[in-house]
Amino acid sequence: MPDQHLPQDSEWCDVHLESGTRRVRFHDYDEIYAIPGLYERIFYDVLRCTSPAVIAGMLSEQMDEQGVDPTDVRCLDLGAGNGIMGEEMRGIGVSSLVGVDIIDEARDAAYRDRPEVYDAYVAGDIRSPTPDGLAAIEQVQPTCLTCVAALGFGDIPPDAFAAAWNLVSDDALVGFNIKEDFLEDGADRSGFAQLIDRAIADGALQVSAQERYRHRDAANGTPLHYVAITGRKQAALQAA
Ligand SMILES: C[S@@+](CC[C@H](N)C(=O)[O-])C[C@H]1O[C@@H](n2cnc3c(N)ncnc32)[C@H](O)[C@@H]1O
Repeated sequence: MPDQHLPQDSEWCDVHLESGTRRVRFHDYDEIYAIPGLYERIFYDVLRCTSPAVIAGMLSEQMDEQGVDPTDVRCLDLGAGNGIMGEEMRGIGVSSLVGVDIIDEARDAAYRDRPEVYDAYVAGDIRSPTPDGLAAIEQVQPTCLTCVAALGFGDIPPDAFAAAWNLVSDDALVGFNIKEDFLEDGADRSGFAQLIDRAIADGALQVSAQERYRHRDAANGTPLHYVAITGRKQAALQAA
């Protein structure tokens, strides 16, 4: 991994395989998911990512406080990747999950690595789901939305987050995280600061807990801080 400080969407590492050494950018998820165990090795063993456990833990506390039985919760996991967040949600007792990710490789890796986690997995753009994809989501009737390590940095844009938000029930539990800079006006060019600020101001999002924490290390070892937010949906969201 490089020693110098790189923007998060430019980080890379060299992967030593039997077939030779390959340089992989951290955001080339299709390449990473194609190699079993590589996503876990980079992000969890080496860079010590904590986010799925942190957000599932916060949602579990919220369920306790609000008297929600986790076995009644059905979750739409947006930007699901190969299923680590889904696995954490199963771990806190959630009974039903549908995964959504923009790339086929994520769905294939989830079925390969964690075949028991998702009841259905929709690969494609949540802003324009296929009839089959939409039917799979509607069949689960999600009462919870999670989106972990997938907002900003060229990943999920505000209008895709809003589209997923509008597919879960009106009082759904929500849990997501985002790099702290993306919630600061001025630093954010992605539109998330405005979307989240407006959702809170309009009452579309009722926040239960908000926590700044170490999401993972950067490739040069410095900590990357994110903000995790959990709460309840109270109304639909309109992306600007
Ligand atoms: C860092 S991974 C996080 C995976 C998983 N949530 C976890 O915590 O391990 C980010 C994921 O977001 C997905 N993604 C990026 N843009 C997306 C979009 N517009 N819609 C859905 N998923 C997207 C990527 O394909 C990738 O699988």
